[in-house]
Amino acid sequence: MKKLSLHQSTLIFGEPLSCFANYLPAHTQVVIVSSSNVLQHYAHGFGNYPVITIEDTELHKTLATIEKITEQLLALNADRRTFLLGVGGGIVCDITGFAASIYMRGCAFGFVPTTLLAQVDASVGGKNGVNFERYKNILGVFNQPQFVFCSPEVLTTLAPKDFVSGFAEIVKAAMIADDALFSFLEKNTESALQKSPQILEHLIFESVKIKADIVSQDEREQGLRRQLNLGHTFAHAIEKNSALSHGEAVSVGICLASRLSQQLGLMQEQDVLRVKNLLQQLSLPTSVNVGLETLLPAMFHDKKKEGNSIYLVLPRGIGQCEVQKMSLDELTMHTKNWKL
Ligand SMILES: NC(=O)c1ccc[n+]([C@@H]2O[C@H](COP(=O)([O-])OP(=O)(O)OC[C@H]3O[C@@H](n4cnc5c(N)ncnc54)[C@H](O)[C@@H]3O)[C@@H](O)[C@H]2O)c1
Ligand SMILES: [Zn+2]
Repeated sequence: MKKLSLHQSTLIFGEPLSCFANYLPAHTQVVIVSSSNVLQHYAHGFGNYPVITIEDTELHKTLATIEKITEQLLALNADRRTFLLGVGGGIVCDITGFAASIYMRGCAFGFVPTTLLAQVDASVGGKNGVNFERYKNILGVFNQPQFVFCSPEVLTTLAPKDFVSGFAEIVKAAMIADDALFSFLEKNTESALQKSPQILEHLIFESVKIKADIVSQDEREQGLRRQLNLGHTFAHAIEKNSALSHGEAVSVGICLASRLSQQLGLMQEQDVLRVKNLLQQLSLPTSVNVGLETLLPAMFHDKKKEGNSIYLVLPRGIGQCEVQKMSLDELTMHTKNWKL
């Protein structure tokens, strides 16, 4: 078992699922928020607590779901001392953290993330929120969970597509800060895909360490934390215009950001190929059937826009990146010969 601290959060790795209750506050009403998909596998492990069941799709990641949770919390006589525990993927965690943060001006919450993506990324860092109209995660708060309990055993029931999505965020973390982690994943791709517990534990712990280190220096994304959006400005535009999941879109976004870096002379072709090759080995997509004429304007509807420019994260090889502001005209010029 390993632990990390991030602000007031304790991040716990490698304990059996049955141990999660050790981290709940004593003498407090606990309410679980989860989805039917997750509960069909794990309801027995959370038997004694009342459960609010939500739909975990992007279409349900809305204020309407927050309202439904509120109705049920009121029916359970929940008050500000109530502890909300989100058990599920990134969608459940993002919604639970937001609901807990605004119910009666805020109650404490924690997460048992049940997807690889939620363990390595979504449950860590204190960003909670929902979508509104075509804007992803546009309504939300920064607020840290009391704990995040990452148990490897829940990953066994994930569908292959939902499992591999998480590797996109691991590759992202490695590209931002840790070339050794990138090489480790290259060497252990097969075992990782076969869900070797030792390999997964190492990948999850090292990825979270990178994120926690960055977030501890810049919780509210004034500077350094922007690096964690590597691939994401492309990815959010891809998610809106294709059927790809978040992780799959991030994989394509990382490839596009790398290609742009190469074009700007920041990244060598051999590194761009290494990235693409690793993502392909992990069964992740590296291209998408969306035209640039759709993709580029959609990127400029992203919430990270400042004036006419957006922040783009550009890898400088593997294990390092930089953030540049770019206008739509500049990005159009740099990508004018691209075929996706
Ligand atoms: N807050 C953040 O910092 C942050 C970071 C990254 C991503 N996100 C958000 O996370 C979301 C994506 O999260 P995700 O990839 O976990 O997707 P998800 O929450 O949609 O889960 C994917 C699917 O897996 C199912 N599932 C979950 N756990 C399971 C299990 N153990 N066994 C079987 N099935 C299971 C879910 O029901 C769902 O159908 C996006 O909305 C994204 O915006 C947030
Ligand atoms: Zn992401």
